[in-house]
Amino acid sequence: MIKKVLGGLLGLGVLIGFSLFVYLYANNKLSVWYNKGYQPVQPLPFSHKQHAGDYKIDCKYCHTSVAVSRHSSVPSLNICMNCHQVVATGSKFIQTLQDHYFNDKPVLWEKVHLLPDFVKFNHAAHVRAGKQCQTCHGPVEKMEEVYQYSDLSMGWCVNCHRRPPDSYLDECVVGEKNQIAATNRCQSDQPQQAPINCATCHY
Ligand code: HEC
Ligand code: HEC
Ligand code: HEC
Ligand code: HEC
Ligand code: HEC
Repeated sequence: MIKKVLGGLLGLGVLIGFSLFVYLYANNKLSVWYNKGYQPVQPLPFSHKQHAGDYKIDCKYCHTSVAVSRHSSVPSLNICMNCHQVVATGSKFIQTLQDHYFNDKPVLWEKVHLLPDFVKFNHAAHVRAGKQCQTCHGPVEKMEEVYQYSDLSMGWCVNCHRRPPDSYLDECVVGEKNQIAATNRCQSDQPQQAPINCATCHY
């Protein structure tokens, strides 16, 4: 008798646990399993808010390869030195920066975003398709320190790839339109269709 009751309770517990898991999973509440919000401490207090927000330096001035290659580069020190040979040279951080530059020591920025090796991602394809950096990276121009804004889960990628072609058009109105006009599909009548077969994103 006692055994049966205990067995029943155990079964119920497992059932409730499982339902809760399914509920949380379906509602995307399990993204704590991903690195959403990840914000490593950087070796120098470089502020996107100051540079990209206050001074409105274009993302692509520093992330030069983002529109042409699979990866978006993190700027090398000569880009910083375009300004910091003369700007804020009294600051101890800028003196550290100059020390790195003149002694050929790279600044070892901590990587914020990192997809697993078995996933293919291509920045250029998305930027050419008119996607804003902020759609995926959030309001970077307001961040003192960059953090991972989206969960970068497979569901996140596929949900956007599945969206009907028309729904992309609203994102085409703002932003970087002019700089990528030549190849920007926002400006043509071609509906966008993002592939969803497994081999698009997996090796
Ligand atoms: C287009 C010009 C420009 C470029 C390029 C640039 N900066 Fe700056 N940076 C500024 C300005 C302007 C300030 C604000 C200076 C001030 O408030 O006195 C600043 C401030 C800073 C500060 C804060 C200094 C302090 O102590 O307040 C750091 C650190 C810094 N920059 C690092 C970098 C790094 C690293 C790079 C390259 C990845 C870079 N900057 C590229 C213009 C630039
Ligand atoms: C003045 C140069 C400069 C500008 C302008 C700039 N960035 Fe950055 N960005 C950096 C540097 C340096 C790092 C590496 C340090 C860090 O993570 O803060 C970086 C890192 C990042 C990262 C994290 C990369 C990783 O490790 O995963 C993202 C995302 C990013 N930038 C997006 C943007 C976006 C979007 C804009 C425009 C709104 C922008 N950046 C403008 C210099 C710049
Ligand atoms: C469709 C979503 C999407 C858009 C749009 C996008 N990114 Fe990214 N970005 C990602 C993903 C996903 C990663 C992680 C890639 C990896 O780990 O291989 C990433 C990584 C980065 C990195 C780290 C270096 C790298 O390539 O791994 C930088 C810097 C960056 N993005 C900057 C930008 C800038 C600047 C823009 C706008 C010009 C932009 N991104 C637009 C999704 C996007
Ligand atoms: C905000 C919407 C959006 C998100 C988020 C997004 N994509 Fe895409 N992706 C697109 C669109 C639109 C295209 C079609 C581009 C074109 O027209 O060639 C595309 C195309 C691609 C391609 C094909 C590139 C090529 O060479 O033709 C790959 C690979 C890809 N995405 C991988 C990913 C991965 C992996 C993620 C998640 C880490 C992701 N995407 C997240 C919108 C998105
Ligand atoms: C638009 C891009 C995209 C497409 C299409 C896609 N995946 Fe993924 N997949 C990802 C990303 C990003 C990850 C890593 C993040 C994660 O685990 O959610 C991933 C992870 C996985 C994993 C590992 C899961 C884990 O938890 O470790 C498997 C297995 C997988 N995908 C299978 C598939 C299969 C099968 C298909 C075709 C039906 C497919 N994927 C289509 C982007 C994609």
